[in-house]
Order: sequence, then structure tokens, then C-alpha cells
Amino acid sequence: MQKLAVFTSGGDSPGMNAAIRAVVRTCVYHGLDVMGIVRGYEGMIDGDFIEMKSHSVSNIIQRGGTILKSARSERFYNEKFRNQAFGNLKKHNLDGAVVIGGDGSFRGALTLFNETGFPMIGIPGTIDNDLFGTDFTLGYDTAINTAVEAIDKIRDTADSHDRLFFIEVMGRDAGFIALRSGIAGGAEAILVPEDETSIDRLIKTLEHGWRRNKTSSIVVVAEAGQTGRTFEIEKEVNQRFSHYETRVVILGHMQRGGTPTTMDRVLASTLGVASVEALIRGEKNVMAGLVDKQVTFTPFEKATKHHHTVSAELMRIAEILAV
Ligand code: F6P
Repeated sequence: MQKLAVFTSGGDSPGMNAAIRAVVRTCVYHGLDVMGIVRGYEGMIDGDFIEMKSHSVSNIIQRGGTILKSARSERFYNEKFRNQAFGNLKKHNLDGAVVIGGDGSFRGALTLFNETGFPMIGIPGTIDNDLFGTDFTLGYDTAINTAVEAIDKIRDTADSHDRLFFIEVMGRDAGFIALRSGIAGGAEAILVPEDETSIDRLIKTLEHGWRRNKTSSIVVVAEAGQTGRTFEIEKEVNQRFSHYETRVVILGHMQRGGTPTTMDRVLASTLGVASVEALIRGEKNVMAGLVDKQVTFTPFEKATKHHHTVSAELMRIAEILAV
């Protein structure tokens, strides 16, 4: 193993830069050459490769986004383009790569390995926290802190105007962002796709609060694969429960940006070192993750297929505290 590549793929997440830095510096530490691939699989297909040195990653640990840029590559689903990408990897004499991304990125890595034998190790980089084999993904902690900051601010207005706010958070088809940010923001109700609360139940909760003289309420709603679905929920609630004036806030992409938290930086640094050292040991097709504070390696197939589900205990805690 003499030369490795690193790239970011899929939706960006805070902590990706810290992971790139860790991968590059670990390569330098172990005497390996390292290249960055720009724009993920798109850049791999187009031959957009850059040499990286220790100083290439100076002053990026605190920056959100990804200096290598990211993309969701449609072309990589096509074998012709995967062959083109492999040709570029060979041209640069690369022996393996670290892919920082989510499940689509890992499925791409596995397909390429099955066709060409090119080894990759994954680092879970997504704000959604929806990968099996790690307690937390890179960017999740930052995203929930951003969401909580927004919820706190919106609560000021909810309270001043006696309003009911529906706050929609990201998470694709998983409720991790909604559940933790909802608990931390003291939400009166949290709607997650894993345990979809019926409108009946939500209205009961709101009526209960109203009877106890709550003058305002906050409902955190997971986007559940349908950005903007919260407008429908607001409409249905308004038809049956009209005590509050309501507003909808979609937090959107602000959850993807910003300075990574300490937790995300340390996670990125830990997994960056672990992934390079795993490639040096000859491991492949696995995602590096942290489970109960221990670095673990989960096969790509398991990390993407097995479902990481929201904690039933956290759901119970949310319900108790919303009384
Ligand atoms: O996977 C990260 C994520 O931000 C999801 O939470 C969201 O559903 C999706 O990406 C949005 O994707 P895009 O930036 O392509 O609109």
C-alpha cells in the first residue's frame, strides 16, 4: 500500500473537512502518498484528482462543508462510467481509498470493488445518522445543535404571540434529528416516521396542553422523505383544533452547514485515523464507526441495509416530558 485517495460523496455534513484532514495526515504519518478526488464519484469519473500534502489540510478542521466538494452521482450507476472512474484510479496508481459519505456512497464503493477489486473503507458522513454500525455519523451532532438553536429562537416568538409552531427538520426517512432536537428543544410533540403519530393523537396532546393553560406549543416534525409535508399536517390540525394561530418553519439546508461541534471533530479525527490504518492492514468494504466509544468496522452491506432505528427509550422520554 503506497498511495491512497480520499473523497466526499452525497450530501455534505459538518465534520467532513476534519475527516479529510485526518485521512491526509495519517497517510503522511505512515509515509503514504495521498490524493483528493474532487466532487466525489463525479470527479472520479472525470479525472478530477489533486495531490494532497499535510499543509493542504491546514486550517480546515473548524470549517463546515467539504474542501473536496461533494456530489450525488447519477453517472456512477452506469457501468461504463464506473470503468472510466477505475481507469482514473489506475492511472494515478492508487491502491485504495477512503470514502466519506452515506449509504449511496458505500453502495457505489461496493459495486466498484465487485467489478474491479479496488478496496475502499467508509467513514459515515451524513447529518441523518441513519447508518447501522455507528452510534453517531459525522455532522449529526452539529445538525441537532443547529436545530435546537433554531427551536429556542422560534420559541421566543411562539411564546410572545401565543402561537403553535410546526418546525420541520431534515433526516431523509429517519427521525434521529427530530427526536434529539425535539427533546433538547422541549417540544410539546415530536413526529418521527419510525412511530408516526396520528393526527388524532397529536390533537389530543395539543388539547391536553391547552387545558393546562399552555399558551404556545412547538411540534418538531421529521421531513420523513417528503420535504414540506408539514404544511399538510398544519392544515389538518387547523381543521380540527383552532385554539392557536399556527406557523410552519422548514429549517432546511441550514442544518447541513456550519462549524462542526467538538464531538463531530473528534469523531472525524478518530475515524480518519482508523480508516487509513485499516486500509494499510488490508481491510476493505467496511465502514469505520464508533459503537459504545469503540472503533468498529461494519461491512458496507450491513451498514446500508440494516436499519439503525431511533431509541425507543428516547421516544418514551420525549412523551413523558411533554406532559
Ligand atoms: O442526507 C442528507 C440530507 O440533508 C437529508 O436530510 C435531506 O433529505 C437531503 O439530504 C436533501 O438533499 P439535497 O441537498 O440533495 O436536497
